[in-house]
Amino acid sequence: MTTELTILGIESSCDETAAAVVRARGKVGVAQGPGAILSSAVFGQEDLHAAFGGVVPEIAARAHAERLDLVVRRALAEAGLGLDAIDAIAVTAGPGLIGGVLTGVMAARGIAAGAGKALIGVNHLEGHALTPRLTDGVDYPYLLLLASGGHCQLIAVEGLGRYHRLGSTIDDAPGEAFDKVAKMLGLGFPGGPEVERRAASGDPARFDLPRPLMDRPGADMSFSGLKTAVVRARDRLVAAQGGLFLRDVADLCASFQAAVAEVLGAKTARAMRAFRARHPGLEAPVIAVAGGVAANRALRGALEDAARAEGFRAVAPPLALCTDNAAMIAWAGAERLIAGEAPGEVRARPRWPLDESAAPVIGSGRKGAKA
Ligand code: KG4
Ligand code: ZN
Repeated sequence: MTTELTILGIESSCDETAAAVVRARGKVGVAQGPGAILSSAVFGQEDLHAAFGGVVPEIAARAHAERLDLVVRRALAEAGLGLDAIDAIAVTAGPGLIGGVLTGVMAARGIAAGAGKALIGVNHLEGHALTPRLTDGVDYPYLLLLASGGHCQLIAVEGLGRYHRLGSTIDDAPGEAFDKVAKMLGLGFPGGPEVERRAASGDPARFDLPRPLMDRPGADMSFSGLKTAVVRARDRLVAAQGGLFLRDVADLCASFQAAVAEVLGAKTARAMRAFRARHPGLEAPVIAVAGGVAANRALRGALEDAARAEGFRAVAPPLALCTDNAAMIAWAGAERLIAGEAPGEVRARPRWPLDESAAPVIGSGRKGAKA
């Protein structure tokens, strides 16, 4: 039996206020990608947080509260649909900054109650994890690298709700490291694009920065020591010459970016081997990326090289769907509803790991406690 669902998704767990309408089809309890994205509206908050060099939770929550109504109305208008055409509402219920998550959940509850619609709570990380199915119709199982400002995980996506973590950061997320390095060098926020721009004219070999955890087996990563090494190199230069020249900034950015790319490439290659061992029958397994850091060309290059060497097919969803958005939340909600999960009471969960059996990860990022 074929099911078709039109879902309104709502996302407000970090610094994007987003709503989207997605149509999903499924057969015998399994959603079949790609989905049809009828609209995807995202209001960013970068301007509100730029002066602070990072996301300020209270400011984020207030901005979500002010904009949620508007973004939902825009998503419906762009889809050319009224609420009556929506089958169910999916909202991010965690993990994330609690103020933002609560704001989204309350808004979604209100709309669902008012319009008499079913409501389902979605794990934000599951939204990212299932994006390759929404955009490219990728079949289970596949390997996912999620690299953003709040997350860094290598996950074997083996089925809906079946996630096996093969590696993750033990401290900072890579985007967080980019943001901190940018701040230390006096560059703007978010730092990733700024660092990439400066790195383009820099010498990646000038500073001998560490490649953290490379000497340890497995696919876990660490980026906080790398960031400290950049501070030390900066301080040495400032002590020696009284300040930084533009060339120094470019070389520091290039050396830092090269170190991150090398570590991510090598650790992803290890995760590919572990994935193959779990799924020996697959001919050309997929490695997909998600998260804002996937925008970085050096990192993407390192991943594509690793994929080629390991016989994997690299899938990179369009950037607007790699970063936080509500289409992925609508899709994840649709997958769950098609699989027969009953909608019902939605509660906010600030901490909500994808792989509940995995040991918790130490540290806390800009999205609050790491999942
Ligand atoms: O996925 P995302 O939009 O938000 C979450 O953190 O969930 O990712 C934003 C992060 C920021 O830390 C930003 O600096 C980083 O992604 N980023 C980049 C680039 N573009 C964005 N990092 C490195 N290179 C880039 N070009
Ligand atoms: Zn995210």
